[in-house]
Amino acid sequence: MRSFRVDLRSDTVTKPSPAMRRAMADAEVGDDWFGDDPTVNRLQDRAAEITGKEAALFVPSGTMANQIALRLHFRMTGHLVVAEPLSHVASTEVMSSAVLAGIAYRTVKGDHRGRITADQVRAALEPDEPYDVEVVDLVCLENTSGHAGGTVMDVADLRAIRKVAQEADVPVHVDGARIFNASVASGVDVAEYAAEADTLMFCVSKGLGAPIGSLVCGNAEQMREGRRIKILYGGAWRQAGVVAAAGLVALEEGPKRLHEDHERAARLAAAVAEIVPGSLDPGSVETNMVFADTEPLSLTPLEVTDRLEEQGIGASVVSGKVRMVTHVDISDEDVESAIAAWRSVAAS
Ligand SMILES: Cc1ncc(COP(=O)(O)O)c(C=O)c1O
Repeated sequence: MRSFRVDLRSDTVTKPSPAMRRAMADAEVGDDWFGDDPTVNRLQDRAAEITGKEAALFVPSGTMANQIALRLHFRMTGHLVVAEPLSHVASTEVMSSAVLAGIAYRTVKGDHRGRITADQVRAALEPDEPYDVEVVDLVCLENTSGHAGGTVMDVADLRAIRKVAQEADVPVHVDGARIFNASVASGVDVAEYAAEADTLMFCVSKGLGAPIGSLVCGNAEQMREGRRIKILYGGAWRQAGVVAAAGLVALEEGPKRLHEDHERAARLAAAVAEIVPGSLDPGSVETNMVFADTEPLSLTPLEVTDRLEEQGIGASVVSGKVRMVTHVDISDEDVESAIAAWRSVAAS
């Protein structure tokens, strides 16, 4: 087993806090298949309240949350979903989408921040005349955009895309795995983003610090059908209140401290940019992710992560760069250790 002094590979590596562990130990539970786990139900109600949606469904992973939402909107095999090519649904989940729902994507390339525009979406939704065979069932957007470096989607851009989609009678799903990071960075309420989405999913298991779980949010009818799909996908996870209890703590405590992760990511980015000129633009770091280009070191990203690992620093390779993600288990001292490791890699 690999172990790191400072683990910056992802914000999914966090350990439950003492408050979460206590809540988990004390959780009141029932059978979630029957809908009678009171702690799951409380978490779902709280998620619906925070997002301003009628209802929510608690599921084991972000992938399952997205796949349930996609299945809800997708009408039939042979139709398409519009998404940015490197977004999680169209890249990591492309096979899940194909196997579980027969989804193929019509991709629309975003800019360096992963942003696609309303005009691009309008063009992607144009009727396919004269052939009349290509039908788009859904537009799927991601906020923050993971592959683009945790960048935040402007709520005005989201609103403009939603308007174009509504004109074409096509729903919008938002993969908001890190929507709370977006909200903290932009000052825009999560509910304001959610209001521009027919369905929205978010993870409690990422920046919010819970060990497991994601929520799909939408209207009551969607969530009734979503529950059926969740069960079909093997997501009826019985006494899941044990983990929902940690999710409730994460929802209350997590958002209050995400700004610290963003500040630490900014500090790390500024230092790496100084140590390895040309590796990154510190101004591009908007939330908790730092992506560094290793070309200026004449090393591959994998060679750099290996050298960082020799010094106990965990980083990953994403989009051809070294990715480092700050989270609740990363302190100021940890950031300084990571910076010292970069100094030593650059000197060697
Ligand atoms: C943007 C985004 N969406 C969805 C997911 C899937 O979440 P999970 O790993 O819980 O399946 C991830 C995972 O990293 C992600 O970054």
